[in-house]
Amino acid sequence: MTQALTILGLESSCDDTAAAILRHAPGGAAEILSSVVYGQTALHADFGGVVPEIAARAHAEKLDLCVEQALAEAGVGLGDLDAVAVTAGPGLIGGVLSGVMCAKGLAAGAGLPLIGVNHLAGHALTARMTDQVDFPYLALLVSGGHCQFLIVRGHDDYTRLGGTIDDAPGEAFDKTAKLLGLPQPGGPAVEAAALAGDARRFRFPRPLLDRDGCDMSFSGLKTALRRARDELVDVQGGLTATDIADLSAGFQSAVCDVLVEKSRRALAEAGVPVLAVAGGVAANGPIRAGLTTLCASEGVRFVAPPQRYCTDNAAMIAWAGLERFRAGQFDDMTLAARPRWPLDARAEPMLGSGRKGAKA
Ligand code: KG4
Ligand code: ZN
Repeated sequence: MTQALTILGLESSCDDTAAAILRHAPGGAAEILSSVVYGQTALHADFGGVVPEIAARAHAEKLDLCVEQALAEAGVGLGDLDAVAVTAGPGLIGGVLSGVMCAKGLAAGAGLPLIGVNHLAGHALTARMTDQVDFPYLALLVSGGHCQFLIVRGHDDYTRLGGTIDDAPGEAFDKTAKLLGLPQPGGPAVEAAALAGDARRFRFPRPLLDRDGCDMSFSGLKTALRRARDELVDVQGGLTATDIADLSAGFQSAVCDVLVEKSRRALAEAGVPVLAVAGGVAANGPIRAGLTTLCASEGVRFVAPPQRYCTDNAAMIAWAGLERFRAGQFDDMTLAARPRWPLDARAEPMLGSGRKGAKA
C-alpha cells in the first residue's frame, strides 16, 4: 500500500494513558501530529507499585479525554483517520481492556479499521518511526517492566535472544531509590545521586556475566545493595550523603556493565548493523554512553530515540499499527485483550519483568 496514512494510536497497558495521531507517507519520515500522555505516578505513589484496579479505573476515565486532546492538537477529526490502533497486550488486563473497548467503540462508530498492537512491538519498532531504521536490527528494551534483546527482522518477525530472569532494570533502579530514601521514579534520582559518588567504594556483583548467553538478572544486585546499606546503618545509625552517592554510583555502574556486556554478546549473536534502545532506562546517561562506546567499537549504528518515545506512549502504537495496516493485517470486533503476549512465541517464557504487569 502506497498511500499516506493517518492513524490514531491508543496505549493503556500499564500506568500511562496515551493517545497519538501519526501520519506517514511511504519513503518519508513519520509525522507525529500529537502525542498525549497522562501518567498515573501520583495515583500509585502511596502503594510502592502500580495497583491494577486503580490503573484500570484511571485509564477508563482518561482515555476519551486523551483521544479528544490528541485529535484537537493534531487538528484532525475522526473522519480524517485511516485506522485506530490499540495496545491489545501484554500488560495489566484491566488497562488493556479499557483501551481495547475504547478503540472498538471508536472504530465501530466512525467506520474505521481496528488494529490490535503488541505493546512490545511498539517499543521494538520505535526506532523505525523516529530514525527510519531498516530491518534487521537488534532492539534492547529496558524499562520498569521490560528487559529483553530482540532481533527485529520484520514488523511481525522477532527472535528473543535473552532477557531478565527476575527484575527489570528500571524496577531495580526504583527499588534502589527506595532503599536509599530517594524519590520515585528511582532511575533519574539514582543517576543524579551517582554523579557525586565513587563507583569503586562498593563493588556490587555483575549477575550472570559468568554465564553464556544474553539472559540478565538484577534482583541479586538489589539484595547486595540492601546488605551494604544495612551494614552502614548498623554501624553509623544512618546514611551520609556520601554513602548515598557512592551506593548509587556502585549500583548504576553494575547495571551499566551488565547491559553493555550482554549487548556485546547479543550483537555478536545477532550479526546486525544497528542497536536500537527503548524504555525509560535508555535515558540513563552512563548507560547510553556505555552503549555508544560499545557500538562504536563494534562498528554498529546506535539509535536511541528521544526520551518521550522511549517511555510508554501512543505514537509508537500508532506506528506499529501502521506497519500492520501496510501489511494488510486488521482485526475485528473479536479482538481480545491479552495479559501475556510474547513477541517471539518460540522463545522460553520469561520469568521476570513483573512489577508493572508487563510479563511477556
Ligand atoms: O518505559 P518506562 O517509562 O515505563 C515502563 O516501565 O514501561 O520506564 C520507566 C522506568 C522506571 O523504572 C524509571 O526509574 C526508569 O525507567 N528510568 C531510569 C531513568 N529514567 C527513567 N532508569 C535509569 N536512569 C534514568 N535516567
Ligand atoms: Zn512499555
